[in-house]
Amino acid sequence: MALVNAAEMLTKAKAGHYAVGQFNINNLEWTKAILLTAQELNSPVILGVSEGAGKYMTGFKTVAAMVKAMDESLGITVPVALHLDHGTYEGCYKCIKAGFTSIMFDGSHYPFEENLAKSKELVSVAHGLGLSIECEVGSIGGEEDGVVGMGECADPEECKVIADLGVDMLAAGIGNIHGKYPENWQGLSFETLAAIQEKTGVKPLVLHGGTGIPADMIKKAISLGVSKINVNTECQLSFQEATRKYIEEGKDLQGKGFDPRKLLAPGFEAIKATVKEKMELFGSVGKA
Ligand code: 13P
Repeated sequence: MALVNAAEMLTKAKAGHYAVGQFNINNLEWTKAILLTAQELNSPVILGVSEGAGKYMTGFKTVAAMVKAMDESLGITVPVALHLDHGTYEGCYKCIKAGFTSIMFDGSHYPFEENLAKSKELVSVAHGLGLSIECEVGSIGGEEDGVVGMGECADPEECKVIADLGVDMLAAGIGNIHGKYPENWQGLSFETLAAIQEKTGVKPLVLHGGTGIPADMIKKAISLGVSKINVNTECQLSFQEATRKYIEEGKDLQGKGFDPRKLLAPGFEAIKATVKEKMELFGSVGKA
């Protein structure tokens, strides 16, 4: 099935009280592992691409070509959206041109009026071309591929203004952080989330920084209107752990264990297991 935008899958998720996972991709192994797991579990899925990962893969054009071809050659029938993660203004236009089906404009570091003006323009351009769009208010703490945020909780009034632009999904800072959570993390601000949900109604809300959030907090966030959850670091950690084990056990030194298809296989399987665990937790299994 051709790639789709994320609007319909997220509207369904919001109405059905579950969340669709956005899993970030870095290369062929990541993409294949996520697509196959979504298909096996009959779950919709969003492939996230940060600007850094896009650059690593030699550009958004390469990414779009790879994802489209792989979706077809693997015979994937579940809905798959190819989404820019924390896009700059320029990055959004590059992804639109490259054939992405969904973009995120992260204008959260701009003064609000500038975020609003740029978001408004990009909503109109994206919708004119059939893409879905995510915008951000408040900021996600920590660092992801060079995007650094202070982690301010979003102002629910500002969330309403941005949501009313017609964005398909709204990312709001609620104490969430990219990467591993520190020991002294205060947890998600459900008070903020509830206030945002009250102001924005049926709009699908996005929870960034999905790595390491305890299951009970994830479930509560979904009950308060979160319908898209982003996971990046956790797949990287699973891949790293499995690859380290393979090498520490000396398997790369046995026979043809150095063959990249063997060397990368445990990490690939580990990503699949992490994606499966998250899809089960988010409730998107069987919802394609
Ligand atoms: P984690 O790396 O913390 O899972 O965050 C992913 C994310 O929010 C992508 O935008």
